[in-house]
Amino acid sequence: MVIISSTPTYDRTKELREFDETKEGVKGLVDAGVVKVPRIFIHPPDTLHDLPSQLGSSQSLCQTYLTVPIIDLQEITETQSSRKEVVEKIGEASERWGFFQVVNHGIPEIVLQEMLEGVRKFYEQDMEIKKQFYTRDALGKKVVYNSNFDLYTSPTANWRDTMYCVMGPQPLDPQELPPVCRGILMEYSKQVTKLGIVLFELLSESLGLNSKHLIDMGCAEGHALLSHYYPACPEPELTLGISKHSDNDFLTILLQDQIGGLQVVHQNQWVDVSPTPGTLIINIGDLLQLITNDRFKSIEHRVVARSIGPRVSVAYFFTTGVQSSTKIYGPIKELLSKDNPPVYRETTVKEYTAYYREKRAHGASALPHFKL
Ligand code: OGA
Ligand code: NI
Repeated sequence: MVIISSTPTYDRTKELREFDETKEGVKGLVDAGVVKVPRIFIHPPDTLHDLPSQLGSSQSLCQTYLTVPIIDLQEITETQSSRKEVVEKIGEASERWGFFQVVNHGIPEIVLQEMLEGVRKFYEQDMEIKKQFYTRDALGKKVVYNSNFDLYTSPTANWRDTMYCVMGPQPLDPQELPPVCRGILMEYSKQVTKLGIVLFELLSESLGLNSKHLIDMGCAEGHALLSHYYPACPEPELTLGISKHSDNDFLTILLQDQIGGLQVVHQNQWVDVSPTPGTLIINIGDLLQLITNDRFKSIEHRVVARSIGPRVSVAYFFTTGVQSSTKIYGPIKELLSKDNPPVYRETTVKEYTAYYREKRAHGASALPHFKL
C-alpha cells in the first residue's frame, strides 16, 4: 500500500526535545560534525524557493543593484541645514525601506568589534558554563540563552542560537551577565542606548514633531539585547538562519559581522544588507509603524544560512516587551487628519508582544490584528 501524506512521518516533538535537552544548540550539532541538516531544521520549499543559488560563495547573495540607504550622522551636529537634510533622509528611508544604515554614529569601531568578539566568546566558551544559561522558562530571568525561542511552536527550526538580555528600563545587575562578555555588553548597551535616543529625536523631527516626542512617549524606555550565533551550515539551501519576520519593537539597531546573510524585502524582492565595518543597521519595528499610522514601515527581513561561519550579530530592540506597562499606544494624534484617519486601535506594548509571540500565524505580521 502506498501512503501519500504531507504530514511528517517522524516524531518531530521527540526530535525537538532531544535537540533541546542537549542545551548545546545548533553549535553543538556542528561541533559534533553533522554533515546533514537534521530534519527538524528543513524548511518547506515554499519558504526557500526564492533563495539565491550562490550560497556559500563570497559573491553577493542576490542579484540586485539596490542597497539599503546609508546615512552619515556626522552632519546632524554641523549646521542647521545639514541636520535637516539628515532628518529628511531618515524619514524617506523609514517610509520607503523601513531600513537604513548609519555611519559616523558616535560608537567607536573598537566597541563594535569587541561586542562581536564578546558574543563569539560567549558561544565558544566551555559548554558546561554556557549550559547554565540555557532555559525556556524565561519568567523573571533577564539573561536567557537557547536555540530557537519558538522551537516547539514554529513549523521549522532555524540554524541559529540566541542569548537575550533585558537591559532596561530597570538596569540589569552586571553580575547576571556571563562573565566572558560582561564588560563589553554593559559598555555596548550604554552606547547603543545613547544612539537610540539620537535616532528617536531625528525620527520625531522627520514626522514634524517636537524632537522629544517619541522619547516622551516612552519609545526608548525598554531595551533587549539579542546576541545571535549562526554556525556554518553543511546544507544551507535547506534551512534559514532566521525566517522572514518583522520586528515587534519600536526600533532595532543591528550590528553584524563580516559574513553576511541578512536580507530585506524591497520592491517585492530580497535585497542583501552587505556587511560594512563600522556601520550599524537601523530598522523600524511594528510598534513604530502602528504609532505613525503606517507612515514608517516595519519591513520583513530574514537571514539565510551559509556554508561559511559562524556569523555573529547583535540586535538591540527598543521595547519593554512583556514587562508590565500601562502606557497606551495608538496612532499619534498630531499625525492624524480627516484625510489620514487612525488605522490602528490603541494597545499596550505588553499586549502587542504577547499577541506577536503566541497568536500570530507563523511568519505573518501581527499588525493587521490591531487594525480598526
Ligand atoms: C532579529 C534579526 C538579524 C540578524 O534579531 O530580529 O532580524 O542579522 N536579526 O541577526
Ligand atoms: Ni529582525
